This record gives sequence, structure tokens and C-alpha cells, in this order.
Amino acid sequence: MSSRLAHVHPFHVMAILARAQQLAAAGHDVIHMEVGEPDFPTPAPIVEAGRQALADGKTFYTPALGIPALREAIAAFYQQRYGVTVSPRRIAVTTGASGALLLTLSALLAAGDSVLLPDPTYPCNRHLVSLLDAEPLSVAVGPDTQYQLNAQHIAAHWQANTVAAMIASPANPTGTLISPTELAALYGAVKAQGRQLIVDEIYHGLTYGMDATTALACADDIWVINSFSKYFQMTGWRLGWLVIPEAYIDAVERVAQNVFLSAPTPAQYAALAAFTPQTIALLEERRQVFHQRRDVLLAAFSEIGFRFPTQPQGAFYAYADVSDLCDNSATLAANLLEHTHVALTPGKDFGQHGATQHLRLAYTCDEARIRQAAARIGEYLQRQR
Ligand SMILES: Cc1ncc(COP(=O)(O)O)c(C=O)c1O
Repeated sequence: MSSRLAHVHPFHVMAILARAQQLAAAGHDVIHMEVGEPDFPTPAPIVEAGRQALADGKTFYTPALGIPALREAIAAFYQQRYGVTVSPRRIAVTTGASGALLLTLSALLAAGDSVLLPDPTYPCNRHLVSLLDAEPLSVAVGPDTQYQLNAQHIAAHWQANTVAAMIASPANPTGTLISPTELAALYGAVKAQGRQLIVDEIYHGLTYGMDATTALACADDIWVINSFSKYFQMTGWRLGWLVIPEAYIDAVERVAQNVFLSAPTPAQYAALAAFTPQTIALLEERRQVFHQRRDVLLAAFSEIGFRFPTQPQGAFYAYADVSDLCDNSATLAANLLEHTHVALTPGKDFGQHGATQHLRLAYTCDEARIRQAAARIGEYLQRQR
């Protein structure tokens, strides 16, 4: 086995998920708030376009960067939604944001380089950097910066071998955004080092009471990652995209040709139906549902002693400080699963900073289930006192 796998860790939540499935198989009513995917099915127009693509024999490889019609549709989406002009040449259609992250890091990193990341963060980012024999440099972030990296972090933590800084907005596990002003300062600090900024916008569209601005409105040489998984509710179709800075199009195309050949063909044709007014109207209704769930969750869990140091504004996660309730959030998560049958994700999946004090709650189940989860946990905590 490759020695680099020493730095590629499994998700701890998978153990929670496996135990939750065992409990469910034994007849228990498990409430799933650990899963990082929407509970809604893919919108019908997208499914229908996928079905049609299969019927039409769209089962062959496509160009490595995707079918031209989808690259154009994504570029048009930037114009419509954000008023930002992006050439379709700069769009790479990928196997989810995961594929886009791998292409980006493969195009930028050499062995021995390093990448600045916030802690907590989406854990795969660290692991992908390690897979490329580079070093993830985690910077502890907290509610004071909305759990985001800022220009001061860049100045304080940048090393001679650092080639990029990487953030997500809205972020996983915290659901927090970086403001356009902070992003401009962050970009300025990274460019002062002459290096690259990567912004993962996978949770765009899932923001509540506000719209997010794409990082491309700040500068067109930022690497922007997005996906059909979350807002478009297509996790299993494995489709996402990357907006490539002009100077790197050939580099990314070469990596894509070698690593993936192309993204899934039926999924690419299906995604052409993702931007129609009919689909967007449905997605916007579902966004309102997530908004209400977030509010219900924050109220119900605050009442039982979970603390939310900052209001999550996007994604479908809340990152709760449970240090008033336990010494170790991983033990608490395991106990809650056993005794209340509510599955939550321990902070240690997302890094080390404050990891034992936090749990991630995903509002990927309906309001009634969220209330039920809080009630069960509240009773359990009472019994422990
Ligand atoms: C921040 C972030 N980036 C990327 C991904 C990967 O998503 P996908 O490959 O399904 O597009 C996820 C999945 O949860 C995520 O939370």
C-alpha cells in the first residue's frame, strides 16, 4: 500500500452511518442528520432529460471538458444569475466537485508544495492534497471570521512552498459564507504572494435570506468549483464543474483526458435541463424548505443546550458547540445514536481545531423529524443530569 495513504483518513461519519443502518435494520426509528446530501429526489425534468439521453444512445465518451452545449449553459448561468461573463472555453465539466477539486490540485501542485486550508473544513480537501504528495496546512478558524480564512491568515501562515489557499463558501461543516469584501482582501493577499486562490461554491443556491456572489465577480483568475450535487440535487449523477483561469485551460484539459476521459455522458445531457425556468422554480421552492428547516433546527437545538456561535447562512449544515454538554463530541455522537437513534457527525471529521467540542447537524430531513430529534436528545440529556 502506498505510504501516502497514511494521510488519507476514512470519514468517521461512515462508522456512524453503518451503526445507524444496523439499528434501523433491527427495527429502530433512526433520524438521519449526519448525511451531507439533499433528501429531495432529482427534479423530474432533469430525470426525464437523462432518460431521453439514454434512449437516444448518448452513452459514448464526450470531449474531456464536457459537451459544448452544457459548457455554454453553465456559462450562460453565470451571466443570468450573477451578471458575470465567463467564456464557455473556461468551463470544465467534471465528475462532481470532487473531480473538479482533483483536477485543480493536480494542475497546480508538485510534490513538496503546500496548500492553506481552514480548520474545520471539508476533509477530502486535505486528503487530496496529501494524495498528490503535497502538504495541507490547516489554519484554525472560528466564529470571529465566520470560520473562513482571511487576509491576515494568509500573511501569518503562508510558507515558501505554499502554492494555493482553498476555501468553500458556503462552507461545510459550518454553513457560513465569506463576504465579498473579505473575499477581495483574501484574493489580494494570495495574489501578493503571486499564487492561486481556489473557491468551492458547491453550496451556492442554498443560501437563506440572501444570495451569494460568485468569486468570479471579484477576479477572473480565481479557480471556482461548483457541482450539480447540492442545489440541483443530483448527487448520484456525479456531475460538477470547474471554472479554469485562462492560463490553465490546457493543463486542466490534459489532466482530465488522462484521469477521467470525460464526465458521465447521460448525466451531462440530463443537466441541460437543470437551468430551465421550470427546474429553477422547483429548486427555489426547495430552497425555501431548507430555509425553514434551518430556522426550526436552530430554535429547537438551542433550547436543549446546543450553542450556535454564528448563524449558518447556507448549505444544509449547522455546526453546534456542545462543550457545555460533554467532554468529547465523538462520544456524545455515539451515545446519541445508541440511546436516541439520532445520527449526527462528530467535529473530528472536519479537522482538529475545536473538533471534540462540535457536532455537525445536517437538516436533510423534514421539520417534524428535526423537532423529534431535538426532543429525543433533550430528554436523553435530562436523564443524564
Ligand atoms: C465542500 C464540498 N466540496 C465538494 C464536495 C463533493 O461533492 P460532489 O463531488 O458530490 O460534487 C462536497 C460534498 O459534500 C462538499 O461538501
